[in-house]
Amino acid sequence: MAVAEVVVVGSCMTDLVSLTPRLPKAGETIHGHKFFTGFGGKGANQCVQAARLGAKTSMICKVGKDSFGNDYIENFKKNGIPTEFVNQAEDAATGAASIVVNSEGQNFIVIVAGANLLLNSNDLKRAAHVISKAKVMVCQLEISPAISLEAMKMAQASGVKTLFNPAPALADLNQEFYTHSDIFCCNESEAEILTGIAVGNAEDAGRVGCILLERGCKTVIVTLGPEGCVMVSTKAPTPKHVPAQKVTPVDTTGAGDSFVGALAFYLAYYPQLPLEEMVKRSNCIASISVQTTGTQTSYPYRKSLPQNLF
Ligand code: RIB
Repeated sequence: MAVAEVVVVGSCMTDLVSLTPRLPKAGETIHGHKFFTGFGGKGANQCVQAARLGAKTSMICKVGKDSFGNDYIENFKKNGIPTEFVNQAEDAATGAASIVVNSEGQNFIVIVAGANLLLNSNDLKRAAHVISKAKVMVCQLEISPAISLEAMKMAQASGVKTLFNPAPALADLNQEFYTHSDIFCCNESEAEILTGIAVGNAEDAGRVGCILLERGCKTVIVTLGPEGCVMVSTKAPTPKHVPAQKVTPVDTTGAGDSFVGALAFYLAYYPQLPLEEMVKRSNCIASISVQTTGTQTSYPYRKSLPQNLF
């Protein structure tokens, strides 16, 4: 059995993407100019990005016993991700995400989680030996929150670092997610749902980061899209803005997942790097991803990236 340095417990979705000139209003029908399907789901996206940077990964997830599920398993294989813990449910369909992307690269996403919600404690137990040997565990909220929390507890019990991405956000997130997150990484809208504070700039992000630290996180990163992110930790309690390079976005779908996947890679393989440097490099990788259409299709491979990122 291969050892995985980065273990992701999370979702797989088939992305059904329409490109449109603008986002529709409620009740409105508009013309799009392109439709395509792709591989998505926040968990799988993060795992694929980490794998493309060179991480040995393991994905613990559930898809349906349907053509989307079969295709997803092939996709993991193509990305060098072991499929030992990619379970197939008999009684639910592979998760699907309807995505609309406008000409500025902004998106709307609706997910129907399907088989993702059937990932259970037994699936985690079967992977316990892999979880306990990992360097980093990554979780999100497109599977049952109780299973994400159980996975994070299993990881921490074995001294594995936890990187939690509370997406999609829940206003009533169980308090234990904060205390079991070594790194808690959310975007502006997730931060607002969690704290009730609108995040419009780096200063707001710093305030929100401090509130999340008070709830028990060790380190908080609030991503700000083109503005990079703000990081704050119990060890360095003054919020630090880490800007991103300016690029022209084509499609921002999954950019946050590219960031999280890259960060998981750096945490596992370059643990001696200062967190600020890991975050800078992860910003750089995510900003490359927004310059191409699609979710995983836009994630860069190590061989195409500047060597100073490694
Ligand atoms: O974060 C982007 C992802 O969110 C998409 O791939 C979609 O599947 C949804 O999970």
